[in-house]
Amino acid sequence: MIRPKRIGHATFETPDLQPMIDYYTQVMGLVLAEREDDRAFLITKVGLLAIQLNKGDNERCVSLSFEVAPDADFGAMARDLEQEGIKSELQNDSIPGIGPVLTFKDNKGTTIALFKEWSYLGKHLPHIGVGPLKLGHIAWVVEDPQKTAEFYGKVLGFRVSDWIDDFFVFLRCNSDHHTVNFIRGKNNKMHHIAFELKDFVHIQNSCDLFGQRQIPIIWGPLRQGPGHNIATYHRNPDDQVIELFCELDKIVDEELGYFEPRPWHRDTPQRPKTWQAASTKTWGPAPLPDFHRDRV
Ligand SMILES: [Fe+2]
Repeated sequence: MIRPKRIGHATFETPDLQPMIDYYTQVMGLVLAEREDDRAFLITKVGLLAIQLNKGDNERCVSLSFEVAPDADFGAMARDLEQEGIKSELQNDSIPGIGPVLTFKDNKGTTIALFKEWSYLGKHLPHIGVGPLKLGHIAWVVEDPQKTAEFYGKVLGFRVSDWIDDFFVFLRCNSDHHTVNFIRGKNNKMHHIAFELKDFVHIQNSCDLFGQRQIPIIWGPLRQGPGHNIATYHRNPDDQVIELFCELDKIVDEELGYFEPRPWHRDTPQRPKTWQAASTKTWGPAPLPDFHRDRV
């Protein structure tokens, strides 16, 4: 079975590379590792590839990469995919720092790129702006979250961490509460992408940066219910929602099956469950209407 260990990077198409490069380097605090005519690669201050920008017609997320075990066998994984009726292809896309990738499409048409060889693209990098620790998760609007959760469970071994009613599912591939999540809606498009910050002070500093740059915070700061992350949300120049978070729940032992105990948990122990829609957040304000625009 294919078992991703962590998310690598997200690839976006954008009609105009430069404003997005400016946003990611001057607001988000990523570092431009490589720039080609029609592609750009952005890394975190610790040197992890996080975002790839490709020049394209529309603003959209087209691909997610995931790291698999170092001894994973691409041939065996391709055969597993074929048994599920999924075509895959071994490619070398010359992505900086990443070796060969096995690519295929998930059930909603997003390219999934599996890699096992990779290297840091820098160390102790100076940066301007927020400076996240890592790319954390991607949320997607889908017509049928149950079906997409089943695909990610069966094909990629993701486990369900929480549901909100029957319209929002959170899935994990490692100890993090969620690396992908799917919310029911009419569009098939990304809902938001999230970067992990160090702590609440880091979140506070990012809020002050947004204040200085007059970037509206469209939700938060708040502490979520599912995942219990402290979070804020804003929009980038391509109108995509970007979440910054810290203190996301972790399941450190799958056999124990509960999230690492934290003072803000109301359930003791906190186990995967189905939340009631109207009462999910732990504390904080309600989202501005702008937050939900992509779901309809
Ligand atoms: Fe999120």
